[in-house]
Amino acid sequence: MTSTTPAKPFQTHVKSLIGDIPGWLTDEEGEALYELARACRGDGVIVEIGSWKGKSTVCLGLGSRAGRSVSVYAIDPHADYRFGDFKTNVDRAGIADLVCPIPSLSQAAADAFDEPIELLFVDGSHDYDLVLEDFEKWVPKVIDGGWVAFHDTTWTKGPRKVVGAAVYRSRRFKDVEFVVGSMTVARKVERNTLRDRARNRYVLGVKTAFWLGSSALKKQRRLLPRPVERLGRRVLKAIQ
Ligand SMILES: C[S@@+](CC[C@H](N)C(=O)[O-])C[C@H]1O[C@@H](n2cnc3c(N)ncnc32)[C@H](O)[C@@H]1O
Repeated sequence: MTSTTPAKPFQTHVKSLIGDIPGWLTDEEGEALYELARACRGDGVIVEIGSWKGKSTVCLGLGSRAGRSVSVYAIDPHADYRFGDFKTNVDRAGIADLVCPIPSLSQAAADAFDEPIELLFVDGSHDYDLVLEDFEKWVPKVIDGGWVAFHDTTWTKGPRKVVGAAVYRSRRFKDVEFVVGSMTVARKVERNTLRDRARNRYVLGVKTAFWLGSSALKKQRRLLPRPVERLGRRVLKAIQ
């Protein structure tokens, strides 16, 4: 008898939908956002900081739709010239009823936002001071047991420094994961254990090794053969 693994919804539906939306998410990152949104129980909402043309919004919205249809707040100045693309992509994915765009800078929007958050995705300004401000203003609104995801935490200094200190070395997060190529995901808790902290430091080591290794390859303008790259991605997932 042959057994086949059922295809995951992200692979069958979402990947093709986001394939032609410009953006910087890897497939792994898109799938992680989709699965985190799908797992939301409705104890809080989903907040995205930095939407651009909606690639990550579509992953979050479709994940939410496959789960409990939790609202997705998409915070971005949503400048006119690209809001059309954002709206088209959200409409085409059939998630317009779930997505509430907030046309604002995230730091300014924080004071007026008073809903508990179950999943926070941060991909807005990459300037250190502003990422730190996002962290300080938005993470307290995330419920214990809820999730945070930060994009660009490898090559980009601002987000990397913020998550290094405030997530990987913090007592408030567990189950930290580094998602190829630059995303850090973690679950907020009241207080983590020594074991959680040891694991978080280990994952920080994995992320740092990936960052330094891939930077060295870039410097030498070398690309890994596709099968080796695919194997590397699988190994990175398996060792966390
Ligand atoms: C890297 S793009 C986001 C990409 C998007 N998450 C995706 O997956 O395609 C960064 C976005 O953040 C927005 N942005 C920059 N500074 C911001 C701020 N202070 N608050 C909110 N959004 C900001 C920009 O307008 C831009 O659309």
